[in-house]
Amino acid sequence: MSLWSKKSVAMLQAEAAGQVDGDGHSLKRALGALNLTTLGIGAIIGAGIFVLTGTAAAQYAGPAIVLSFIFAGFGCLFAGLCYAEFASMIPIAGSAYTYGYATLGEFIAWIIGWDLILEYLFGAATVAVGWSGYFTAFMNEIGIHLPEAWSNAPYSYTDAPVYDPITHALTQAQGFSHTGAVMNLPAALLIGAMTTLLVIGIKESAGFNNLIVILKVTIVFLVIGFGFMYVNQSNWHPFIPPNTGEFGHFGWSGIVRGSAVIFFAYIGFDAVSTAAQEAKNPQKDMPIGILGSLAFCTVLYILMALVMTGLANYTKLNVPHPVFVAIEAAGPALAWLRPIVNIGAILGLASVVLVMLMGQPRIFFSMARDGLLPPVFGKVHPRFQTPYVTTILTGIVAAIVAALFPIGLLGELVSIGTLLAFVIVCGGILVLRYRSPNLARPFRTPLVPFVPIMGILVCGYMMSSLPGATWRRLIYWMLLGIVIYFTYSRSHSKLGRSDLAGTTNSTVG
Ligand code: ALA
Repeated sequence: MSLWSKKSVAMLQAEAAGQVDGDGHSLKRALGALNLTTLGIGAIIGAGIFVLTGTAAAQYAGPAIVLSFIFAGFGCLFAGLCYAEFASMIPIAGSAYTYGYATLGEFIAWIIGWDLILEYLFGAATVAVGWSGYFTAFMNEIGIHLPEAWSNAPYSYTDAPVYDPITHALTQAQGFSHTGAVMNLPAALLIGAMTTLLVIGIKESAGFNNLIVILKVTIVFLVIGFGFMYVNQSNWHPFIPPNTGEFGHFGWSGIVRGSAVIFFAYIGFDAVSTAAQEAKNPQKDMPIGILGSLAFCTVLYILMALVMTGLANYTKLNVPHPVFVAIEAAGPALAWLRPIVNIGAILGLASVVLVMLMGQPRIFFSMARDGLLPPVFGKVHPRFQTPYVTTILTGIVAAIVAALFPIGLLGELVSIGTLLAFVIVCGGILVLRYRSPNLARPFRTPLVPFVPIMGILVCGYMMSSLPGATWRRLIYWMLLGIVIYFTYSRSHSKLGRSDLAGTTNSTVG
């Protein structure tokens, strides 16, 4: 049994056809290009733009965080073009894990699946921490003051001493420090609530998602439109604050590190691919959904970053609710917008947490079905018909992570993990073009090999700018995954134990 055994596309389609609900119904093909695009936007706009933009501007890039967004946007464009080829080639509900299994073999599929835990489970925890910041601010506004000890992470992490550009002092020691708080209870409770909803089984409703997307986008438009009128241009000078002497703290290296951090804000366009089986015309509409949502959000993000750093000095934005603080800096004229921003962030970020907590068990479910994880990971509740064991497990781990760790540390880990997945997806397109040039590709990534190579280079460059500690966490995580693969998954793989392995290789290999 080879590490590189693959599933055939026909096999994946047969499995997908077998995925029917208790009444024997399969998923309805109801989503058009517009719905797929809004689905993507719903998963994209979240803690990245509402929180990390501010913290990254304050710590790494200053107003030049705008350039970070442009740079990260290019990385996502290249990766998105590669993603679109896979999504149109294998238009069944899945993720990069499924694409990996069909094209690059079981070991790489496992690596991607294990890596995606960073994107989904840790991503949900990150967004929940962001949600908590806005929730706390909202409660403050209405006169309910949550105790700080119970609404903050007990640990903070600094990869380098923090430089204060005003006092020119280095303010904090490097490494983990205790903040004095007990835990971030609102973040953990949000995850608990969303997990309960998912176990009981909420119907994914495109209509409800559209409503939340309209709300989120309207708020972003309001902040941009009204915010521009109150920009204080002196806040944009210097546009690129000089490097402090530390790599990644302002200057060019700060712009690149900023891009790796706010890359988090773009995560989610790949979620469009999970709806492939509900798409009316997946071959044509998947690429539109993926690239359309990405293009739309890129423009919004660049404008939003300009407005936020124009309203408030970037040094003021290292807070849990920076959009609120930016609007506050505009003075009483925009006071009416403050509660709207908070309510929008609370609803909008909660919906992102829900999508991520829903995605994780589906990936576990596929991995368990393939035998790479124990069968309990694929257990479906007899009454609710949801993968309740993995949903609860995901919820418990995500709640603990969200309760204990600060958003900066989590966001960087999610970014580096997702960037790695994108690098593998770009590499996959390159490998397949040479190995299986004649495979039917309804959407072809343009300018191969330029686009996938640029995807690998730009995403790899962003990864390289992240601190050594983030790299170490990624390496430990992947090593743990490799140990599990060789001690459990490889010997339990269904593909490995079936006789199909030999025949499937020829289909796409
Ligand atoms: N892009 C998503 C967010 O910013 C994950 O919350």
